[in-house]
Amino acid sequence: MILTEIKLVNFRNYSNVKIKLSEGINIIYGENAQGKTNILESIYVLALTKSHRTYIDNSLIKIGSNKSKISGILLKNNIKTKLCVEITQNNKILNIDSNIEPKVSNYISNLNIIFFYPEDLELVKGNPVVRRKYINTQLSQLQSNYMIILNDYNRLIKMKNKFLKTKQLYYEEDKQYYSILNEHIINKAVSIYLLRKKYIDKINEYAHDVFFNLTGISDFYIKYKPIIKINNDKNLIIEELKKQFELKQNEEFRLKKSIVGPHLDEFEFYVKNKNLKSFGSQGQQRMAVLSMKLSEVEIFKEYKNSYPILLLDDVFSELDNKKKNHLLKYIDNNMQTIITTTDLKNINKKMLKNSKRFKISDGNIIKEVEEHE
Ligand SMILES: Nc1ncnc2c1ncn2[C@@H]1O[C@H](COP(=O)(O)OP(=O)(O)OP(=O)(O)O)[C@@H](O)[C@H]1O
Ligand SMILES: [Mg+2]
Repeated sequence: MILTEIKLVNFRNYSNVKIKLSEGINIIYGENAQGKTNILESIYVLALTKSHRTYIDNSLIKIGSNKSKISGILLKNNIKTKLCVEITQNNKILNIDSNIEPKVSNYISNLNIIFFYPEDLELVKGNPVVRRKYINTQLSQLQSNYMIILNDYNRLIKMKNKFLKTKQLYYEEDKQYYSILNEHIINKAVSIYLLRKKYIDKINEYAHDVFFNLTGISDFYIKYKPIIKINNDKNLIIEELKKQFELKQNEEFRLKKSIVGPHLDEFEFYVKNKNLKSFGSQGQQRMAVLSMKLSEVEIFKEYKNSYPILLLDDVFSELDNKKKNHLLKYIDNNMQTIITTTDLKNINKKMLKNSKRFKISDGNIIKEVEEHE
């Protein structure tokens, strides 16, 4: 898929710009704090309806304005789709082809992106919530029913926690309500476990080789660690969940919260049986995340029959020359890629020649150079 153009109105430091993107490699360059990441962020918002770096939608609106609008034209299998996200001080409106789409789950499976940015190291170093959020976002991009199941599951966990806060295992009707809630939770939990497991398994089919190609080190993998034993068999997961709910029943009432289910999942990055969270160098952690994301590019292509759009925020400045060249092998002209850098010297000559370049200064595009010039 390709974004042929994006238009930003009062988004971050942009008042009103239209950017016509190349279907291959696009390079956005300029000094610090000029608005390079803001462009990638706008594409992230256009795809996923929220920012990768803030929960506060209002901070996306240009200071002094009261409304921000990001629109883009998506081209997929020769079909054009117009996407638009409008953010006001207290509202967000999603549009597909000028029709309001009330459901985020329907909206976010349209434009698929894989975004690598410097703060991504948190995926390895940060707490499990960061990783769970990430996998949720990725699976929601791939299939809208994942987000629907996840929302249902989260609603049930909220209901159960509220119930556990006020009740004891005493009255028959409370016991019954508790077990009915658990039945509903099991139903959703099984699907989440299976989809997450399948996704991590898929990543591991690629990630070992990608990591090896980038670093020369083998035995990289991502470990999916649910708190219960799972495999690919739905019925076995149901049995295991039932068993755990029985075992942990008293503890749940004592702690007044639900302690069984995929809301407690963990994912870890390993090289040669060492967890990169505690043993990896910064560079290895970065390569781990990059390997995961490059693997996801392949998975998205497989699931969606079309490459996602690859966004790389300032990656090249952090890598040594050898790794830069290894990474370049994964960027091919068949996939629309948008790269930011402070210095074009970071980009190799061949890639530069094949790219469309945009020079950014203070929220303006001050120079635009087409391919092969
Ligand atoms: N809501 C907003 N309204 C106006 N300007 C904003 C808003 N939010 C951020 N900015 C401005 O955007 C600029 C930062 O943009 P951005 O993060 O895209 O920079 P960058 O070019 O990626 O820089 P670096 O090379 O340091 O990563 C800053 O000048 C900041 O003041
Ligand atoms: Mg930046």
